[in-house]
Amino acid sequence: MKTLFTNIKELIQIRENGEEKISGADMKILPSIKNAFLLVEDEVIVDYGAMADLGILEADHVEDCTGKIVLPAWCDSHTHLVYAGNREQEFVDRINGLSYEEIANRGGGILNSAKKLQETSEEDLYQQSKERLEAVMQMGTGAIEIKSGYGLTTEAELKMLRVIKRLNEEFPLPIKATFLGAHAFPPEYKEDQEAYIDVIINEMLPKVASEGLADFVDAFCETGYFSVAQTEGIMEAAQKYGLPSKIHVNQFTVIDGIEACVKHNALSVDHLEVLEDKDIEVLKNSSTMPVALPTCSYFISIPYTPTRKLMDAGLPLALATDYNPGTTPSGNMNFVVATACIKMKMTPEEAINAATLNGAYAMDLAKDYGSITKGKKANILVTKEIPSYYYLPYAFGDHLLEKVMIHGTFI
Ligand code: NIG
Ligand code: FE
Repeated sequence: MKTLFTNIKELIQIRENGEEKISGADMKILPSIKNAFLLVEDEVIVDYGAMADLGILEADHVEDCTGKIVLPAWCDSHTHLVYAGNREQEFVDRINGLSYEEIANRGGGILNSAKKLQETSEEDLYQQSKERLEAVMQMGTGAIEIKSGYGLTTEAELKMLRVIKRLNEEFPLPIKATFLGAHAFPPEYKEDQEAYIDVIINEMLPKVASEGLADFVDAFCETGYFSVAQTEGIMEAAQKYGLPSKIHVNQFTVIDGIEACVKHNALSVDHLEVLEDKDIEVLKNSSTMPVALPTCSYFISIPYTPTRKLMDAGLPLALATDYNPGTTPSGNMNFVVATACIKMKMTPEEAINAATLNGAYAMDLAKDYGSITKGKKANILVTKEIPSYYYLPYAFGDHLLEKVMIHGTFI
């Protein structure tokens, strides 16, 4: 099956040299061809170029893209899309003056979601999650990471991970699973944190690994949650099972977690709303991808990650949604890209690089996703007729995608 996209106003994010991530000043560059064609065969991108160079090509389907921009699908490297119910009451409580921390201290927050999830059947959890996944695919997400972490018992964590596995089997896009048993201390372990760490390391991790249910490990390394030492213990234990780490760190406080993550070769460090210069120094010369989650900052009114500073230091940067019921009940990558431009002063080129190729890197998927490259999977977005790709973040809140192709098929 061959699909030929013709008369593309601008084909963007073309990468020919096998770049696995884009860093620093290079993020300002978004390679493109104006008035282009793109050829997809079965699941794969096989050719592209200027319309003037298009010979006679036979195709089963021709998609005329006059006036439209074509780009790779979004790569969302940080979500908690599998959850039960919602937390709209906490949203209203915050409007009325309570902070995220105050709500958590009252038994709300992560523990509220864990209680709901423990009481939800695996089938119901799958059905709720499936609807969210379908919705984010329609909004252009073509590769996604999903975390556990609302189970907080061995049984419930495995239930979440099995739901993620089933989503991966039943949907066409790649889904990476991250084990986040260390998301919060269950109430029964409040006075004996080390006992819960023991459960994570000696009970949950071995089962997760032996059933092949996770690609990565995560921990909420934060004051009042998991200490740097506890996070290091979890990273080290996971490494023995070959699971790289992706860590929630520097969301509310600076506790030297980034240094520990880099020391353990974390694939990514995520959130980074509060950063010190020494954290930026540590990230230089590492292979760890910093990941910013601007719609989390937007929703709970916390500082935005200083992405300008990170990129000015020569670092790469990825953008993701953090889709979860507490701090970001939205999986809309278009809004993430717009918020990054509007609130973090990222240029459209930087934001699109961060939301495609660098997002793929943060899931270890850059070999096959995140750019228009011959041989990569055909995960393609076609916009409506718009003046330029600047219009995507500019007209924030508009639905500007006309078609989404995943693995060579329009969904
Ligand atoms: O990434 N910070 C930790 N975890 C989630 C929020 C969890 C929740 O409130 O349910 C986050 O923001
Ligand atoms: Fe998160």
